[in-house]
Amino acid sequence: MPKYAPETDALLETLARTARLEPRQAMTLPPAFYRSEAIAEIETERIFKRDWLCAGLAAEIPKAGDYITFSIAAQPIFVVRDEAGTVRSFSNVCLHRLMQLVEGRGNARRISCPYHAWTYDLTGRVIGAGHMGRPPHFDKRDYCLPEIRTEVWEGWIYVTLNPDAPRVADMLAPLLKDVARYQMAGYVPVAQQEHVWATNWKMLCENFMEGYHLPVAHKATVGAWFPVEDTEFSPEVHEHFTVQTFTKDETASYGRAHEDNTRLEGRWRYTSVMPTIFPSHMYVLAPDHFWYLSLRPHGTGEVKLKFGVALAPEVVASLTDLPSYVETLVGFFDRVNEEDRAVVESIYKGAASPLAEAGPLSWLEREIQDFQIYLANRLADARIDVSALRRTVKEAAE
Ligand code: FES
Repeated sequence: MPKYAPETDALLETLARTARLEPRQAMTLPPAFYRSEAIAEIETERIFKRDWLCAGLAAEIPKAGDYITFSIAAQPIFVVRDEAGTVRSFSNVCLHRLMQLVEGRGNARRISCPYHAWTYDLTGRVIGAGHMGRPPHFDKRDYCLPEIRTEVWEGWIYVTLNPDAPRVADMLAPLLKDVARYQMAGYVPVAQQEHVWATNWKMLCENFMEGYHLPVAHKATVGAWFPVEDTEFSPEVHEHFTVQTFTKDETASYGRAHEDNTRLEGRWRYTSVMPTIFPSHMYVLAPDHFWYLSLRPHGTGEVKLKFGVALAPEVVASLTDLPSYVETLVGFFDRVNEEDRAVVESIYKGAASPLAEAGPLSWLEREIQDFQIYLANRLADARIDVSALRRTVKEAAE
């Protein structure tokens, strides 16, 4: 157990104790855990600088020179497809005097700094630096942007500052049995958005992980189609992710297989899979589309969201008016997101209440306890062996 200020140590001890509770006794974390500046700093050091974060989809940068921007803790990065077709990531900070090189997304075969026009190729090397000839020691060949470790798995781009993090393909191999049949790497990205919401990042993660709120907070949108009793959890507890499946009934506007879908059979044609890759990448993978969130904290009370939507290829192929279909679909998700924003911003305010305490969890919130185990192992050195929890957690889900 690491040692910090007494109130921080007390929060970490409570985290470790809560994560070890039997599923039938599962509780939320104390409200202070979501508002503590000290906990946020520990999360930055022990989670966001060490684990893999999702920067987006490889299909969002299909051509050489396509780039997207992202950040890991305080490190701005850009992710680019190089001339050889490889997805690579670099520090987005100029080697001359620290200017941010690119913003947003775009395409460039050369990255030119907007301050004094130092120019970089797609491998990060300086290939142009005007008026730098007089100091005799300067040689542009000595300069190259720091490269950020990057792996693409099933179409997702993961980045990390940690040279020792295990390979994504090894970490997420057990997830393949749930997601491989959808062939999600072939889905076509149709929308990306960036937002900042006024809540703690963990509250938004936990909100994603439970369908308990869907028939209530989302009764005007997705909740109407959602039979909560059909929710199924993995009997195993995994170290790097948690996952559940749910079904969509025949009244659902989205979430069921297109008639031209030949990948999915039986109940999989109306089943969606919802993985959360710890710490902060989550998606709902349906037969006809998926949408995703990738989160990064901004202090204790703000979270930066990257939100994206992709369509199954046969859906795209069948549409005569893709833009209007996408506009309607994204408009629907905008309403769903607003419903979520209202609740997660409200509970962050609730966590400041002097009378607020930890509350009991439903069986439908089982993944929140999986998340607590991840947090306890990362932040409190709890060393909880997830493989020993298999049977216990299965009992809770039944
Ligand atoms: Fe980039 Fe000067 S800061 S060229």
